[in-house]
This record gives sequence, structure tokens and C-alpha cells, in this order.
Amino acid sequence: MTSQELRKKYLEFFREKGHMIVPSSSLVPSDPSVLLTSAGMQQFKSYYLNEKSPYGENVTSVQKCFRTSDLDSIGDESHLSFFEMLGNFSFGGYFKEEAIKYAHEFITKEMGLKIDYVSVFKDDSADGISEDRDSEKIWKSIDPSLKIVKAGKTDNFWGPTGSEGPCGPTTEIYVNNVEIWNLVFNEYYKDANGKYSLLKTPGVDTGMGLERLAMVSQGKNNVFDTDLFQPFNFFTFLGRDGRIIADHLRGSMFLIADGIKPSNKGAGYILRRLIRRIVVICKINSIPLESLISRVERAINYYNFYKELPINKDKIIKEIKEEVNEFNKIIEKGLNEFFKKYPEMRVEAITPGKAYKFHAVKIIHDAFYFHQTFGLTIDIIKDLAKKSGHIVDEDVFNREFQKHQQLSRTASVGMFKSGLADHSEQVIKYHTAAHLMLAALRKVLGKHVSQKGSNITGERLRFDFSHPEKMTSEQIKLVEDAVNEKIQEDLPVKMEEMSLEEAKKQGAMGVFESKYGERVKVYTIKDNSSQASSESPFSREICGGPHVERTGLLGKFKIIKEESSSAGVRRIKAVLS
Ligand code: ALA
Repeated sequence: MTSQELRKKYLEFFREKGHMIVPSSSLVPSDPSVLLTSAGMQQFKSYYLNEKSPYGENVTSVQKCFRTSDLDSIGDESHLSFFEMLGNFSFGGYFKEEAIKYAHEFITKEMGLKIDYVSVFKDDSADGISEDRDSEKIWKSIDPSLKIVKAGKTDNFWGPTGSEGPCGPTTEIYVNNVEIWNLVFNEYYKDANGKYSLLKTPGVDTGMGLERLAMVSQGKNNVFDTDLFQPFNFFTFLGRDGRIIADHLRGSMFLIADGIKPSNKGAGYILRRLIRRIVVICKINSIPLESLISRVERAINYYNFYKELPINKDKIIKEIKEEVNEFNKIIEKGLNEFFKKYPEMRVEAITPGKAYKFHAVKIIHDAFYFHQTFGLTIDIIKDLAKKSGHIVDEDVFNREFQKHQQLSRTASVGMFKSGLADHSEQVIKYHTAAHLMLAALRKVLGKHVSQKGSNITGERLRFDFSHPEKMTSEQIKLVEDAVNEKIQEDLPVKMEEMSLEEAKKQGAMGVFESKYGERVKVYTIKDNSSQASSESPFSREICGGPHVERTGLLGKFKIIKEESSSAGVRRIKAVLS
């Protein structure tokens, strides 16, 4: 069955079971807390809550999805950046029993495939979520001989997407040892503080990767050999490199069709990374860049299931061409400089295994320099490093990248009175002072205090927070004292990267604006009383940085104004001297 037949078969199957077919939503989601659409349920998120679904209780779709979390794994058998997700959903209609029966019927009867095994959720945490015994029973009643494995929260619990939302235990279906279908039973609501409560009406959210279904049903051992990648088969002789080109070109085409343009931030930057990585891979493999466009044209025709592709054909070609050409102008110099510093990489990249066989493994710390100066993205440097067995220090890169983004963002909204360079040191100090102050406010006023906004210049810190009444002069003094005490203790400011889940679990404060599955930075300041127990540091916040290394650098902290900002929100102005 071709991929087009698979899409139709899936949608028809569920239509016959009373589901309305809903078209894919855009890759640019309406939920501002996520950058790109990464799952079929995203467009339906509110129907699991109070809002009534205009499509009825049961729907089915083929959703365009994009996940940056898998960028490093692309080139293996089954990982992709862009993929299509087949899904069936119920908002208070059917639940576990029907969902599992439908899935079993589709895989075994409609597709004639054999399920190797399924997994179900066993509770392994103390969140008040119980083990999913029902799913196990239902699977057993359908097929007593079926192998059932159990896994905990990391593998068999899904969601929410964005900062909060519906989530629940999952059961996953494996065919040829590949996970192809994930059935989520949305029973809980997770709020922005990480607390779970039961949803009034439980719902169903399933997702099956079309590429993986095509792979197992077409008898291939990787997704790139399915018909979905046929328009890009010219690149297959390049092995892993060819797979990356195919994946990224396909992803770029869909991103542009949904209105994204290459840029230096947000989704535009993801697109830029895809295209630039393609350019370098073509360069080092001597693939003419013109060959990209003819493949895109073929793919636009092949994917005519998505009308937005032919409609935006000119735009897609124009954006890809422009980004390719612009980058092509500077890439020569960038690669030359890079290879001058790391000569073994030139040899390994262009004539693999020829020389430098025994060079020592290096850790590359200056990736950000090559990024800033020559536009070599982190993926490009990692690809080159990998070929020579080198390792890129991504922590250093990310730190500098974030710092740069933050400073340019601050500068771009005109927050600096004079030049950026003069103030950056001072701004960073104020930024760390803001963390100390939030912690002090929560200590003095109570845990209801959360950050509502901040505005930092080289001269002062302005900070909005939730609190119902004017602070007394004693309270102001107590907050100042607490901050100054922590400055005097000269405490280290530590940065760690972790999953958003982990950060919330550790009680980090912050605006949980992050894509599903993305890693976040957490800045922690432990005081002497919290050294012993790792659970309660003085301050812990999800934050992009940058911060000073030790609080001792801040000087003396003073609150110069406390006033109302809006209903229930107070505003503090403070200075360091
Ligand atoms: N929302 C679930 C997933 O993306 C089905 O895996």
C-alpha cells in the first residue's frame, strides 16, 4: 500500500466507526507556548477541557508534525523532524476499551500485521496517578497470548503539550519491534505548577507515525526506503548524509508552505538550521545545489494530499533558493576558517578515513564563534565533528547563544539608554539580582508571589509580581536584607539543563514556555541553609540566562520604589550600587 492509500485507509476506517475527518492544522500552532505543532491532539486541546468540539465527540486526522527533539537522531531507521501523524480522538465519547479494540482491529485485520507486543503504564511516581490496569485487562481479553510490558512515566505517560493541559497514561503498539502507535488516555489535567487533577470527562488521543506504518507495511527496514521518500531517492547513495538532506528538505518545504521564513529566531531559525545543514552536506559531498530544487518540485507533486504545497510552490522554491544562495556565498570562507583550525575535519569530511586516522579526540569549545562569525549552525559543526570523532561542547554553545539572544532581544525593544556593550555586565548583574529578589519576596510575603514581568537596564531593575496589597516599609526592608545577605554569602549561581518535567519536579519557578520534550535551563542559588538538603535551594528558576557566576559580584541591593502596576500586581524598582 502506498502512503496515500494508507492515509485514506486510516481515515475511512475511523469514519466508519463514527469519527469526523478533520484536516491537519498548520505547523504553526495557535498555542503561543509551543513553537511548532508536534502532535495531532494540539488543535483539539481545548475540547478535552470545557470547550465543546464543533466536529462532534469523535474525530480523526492526518496531522503534520515537527519535532526538534529528534534532530540529532535523524539518519537512523525511524527518526524524522517532520512527520505525519495518523490519529483518532474522542472528547468524552469512547474510552480505553473501544480505543484499544479499534487499534487492534486496524493493525491486525485491516493491515494484516502482527503486533509483537504492547506496553502499558505502571505508576512509578508519587504524583497521585494510578497504574493503568484497565488497558492491560482489555488487551488480554482481545488476545490472551499477547505480550504486555509495563513501563513508567518516562515511556508510558503523555503530555501535556505546552505549559499545561490534558495528559494521561498511554499504551503503545510495537510491530517488527518498532513503536508505531501511541494511544493516550487523557484522564488528568496538569497545571502550570505541575499539579495533577482528574479531568471531568476523560478523552482519547492517539498518534501513529505514517512513515513508520509505511515502513512496516511496505516491508522496509527504515523510513527512508518507503514511498514517502521516493521523491528524494537521488540522495540515498550518500547514506546518513543523504537521509538528513531528504528529511530536512521535506521539513523545509512544509514549514515554508505554512508561512515560516528563514530567520534568526523562533520557528524561522529552525528552518534556517535545516537549510544550512543541507548546504554544507551538499558541499562536502560535491552535490550540486541545483539538484535540491528539482527534488522539491517532485515532492510537491507527490504530496498532493496537502493542497498548501502546490498553492505555495513558488514561495517554497523562492525561500529555499534564497537561503541556499545567501548561505552559499559565505560558507566557503566559514568552512575554510573552520578547517584551518581543525584540519583533520577537512580530511575526514571530504575523504573519509584517508588521513588523520589517529588524531586525538577534541572537545570543541568555540562553536559559537563560528556560528556568530560565519553562520555555521550547531548542527553543521556537530556533523563535521562527528565524522572525526570529535565532540562539541554544547553547553558552552547554548550558554553563549542564549546570552546573545537575550541581549539582542533586550536591545531590540530599546531598553538600553546607551550602547549595549557598556551595559551588558551590569544588566547581567541585575538579572541575577531579580532572581534573588523573587526568592526573597516569596520568603517575606508568601508563596502566592510570582513574577509578572521584568524590565532590566544597566541602571535599574523593574519587576512586577503578584501581591494583593502595598508592601509595608518593614517588608521592603526585610526583602532588601534577605537579598543583601545572599550577596554577602557570595553564593555560586549554577546552571543545569534538564527536561521541563524534571525542572517542574524540582520546583523551579518560571514561565513554562517551552515546546514539548524540550530541554530547559535551570538556574539555582543554594544558600548555606540549603546546602544540606538539595530539595530547597534559596532560588531555582527556569531561565535562559545569562547570570553572574557568584552573587558576591552584585554589590549592594536597594529597593527605591514600590507601587501598584495593575490589579493584584505590584511593581518594584531596585538598584545595585
Ligand atoms: N499525542 C500522542 C503522541 O504524540 C498521541 O504521541
